[in-house]
Amino acid sequence: MKVLEIIQKSAAFLERKGVESPRLQSELILAHVLGLPRLQLYLNFERPVPEAQEEKARELVRRRGTREPLQHLIGSASFWGLEMLVNRDVLIPRPETELLGERARDFLRTWPGDTPRILDFGTGSGCLAIWLASQFPTARILAIDISPVALAVAAQNARRHGVGDRIEFCQHDGLPAPGEPCALVVSNPPYIPSAEIATLEPEVRDHDPRAALDGGPDGLDHYRHLALAAPAWLAPGGRMMLEFGDGQAAAITGLLHFQKWIVEPPIPDYSGRERILAAGR
Ligand SMILES: C[S@@+](CC[C@H](N)C(=O)[O-])C[C@H]1O[C@@H](n2cnc3c(N)ncnc32)[C@H](O)[C@@H]1O
Repeated sequence: MKVLEIIQKSAAFLERKGVESPRLQSELILAHVLGLPRLQLYLNFERPVPEAQEEKARELVRRRGTREPLQHLIGSASFWGLEMLVNRDVLIPRPETELLGERARDFLRTWPGDTPRILDFGTGSGCLAIWLASQFPTARILAIDISPVALAVAAQNARRHGVGDRIEFCQHDGLPAPGEPCALVVSNPPYIPSAEIATLEPEVRDHDPRAALDGGPDGLDHYRHLALAAPAWLAPGGRMMLEFGDGQAAAITGLLHFQKWIVEPPIPDYSGRERILAAGR
């Protein structure tokens, strides 16, 4: 078949399977298989695709039709242009988290010392820790996760991006006993209320790790823990910056106030929903 025919057939198939943006997804899969940037497909619509590659594309489209995420099929996700290896052991990095990283970077640019210490709670793929390490070449980072298999992926990503020597990976349930104080405590913790997980899209519900989603009965377990335990990790003048779910800003602000944090107004994402809070002592 030719490039355009494969795209059209794949898109029709994915649409029947309820996949969002079926044409785009088909193009991304075929571009991956052919080893081309997606837009190059447009210059090659009439090109016949060798049988082995057609077969490979068909297999990936079939798997995408079972609602396996595209990032798992191609094995990576981009975080501010850095390729992060991803698999079933780690949450696929989301665009909102890029915004959290950007706000964290803006804060760290104002930090007076030139070797900021950063704590990333619930590091997952390591996207935040690794991107911040790449932005601040002398920063040292403690990246914590309860999941040893997630930490293995994060460490691999850190080595790939040449920052493995500045990130210490630590397996721990919650924050460990306080160590060297940090300019920044950053976290995108699990925040889905347990009972809502069953209602999520199959790509998330069946393929992201449960430990990366489940925030307890009201979704706020980890914010309560951080509000209580993070002050001991924070250097004077430091900030805690947190991502959370749509509609959780007021509750999280309340529980931070309860632990005597000074909380800045919530920061909206690109669609105007409040998704990030910064707080200090
Ligand atoms: C929503 S994911 C965030 C991953 C990554 N930071 C990102 O933004 O893409 C939350 C992470 O917190 C970890 N986690 C869950 N419970 C934890 C706990 N009690 N202590 C430490 N980490 C935990 C999960 O394993 C998961 O990797």
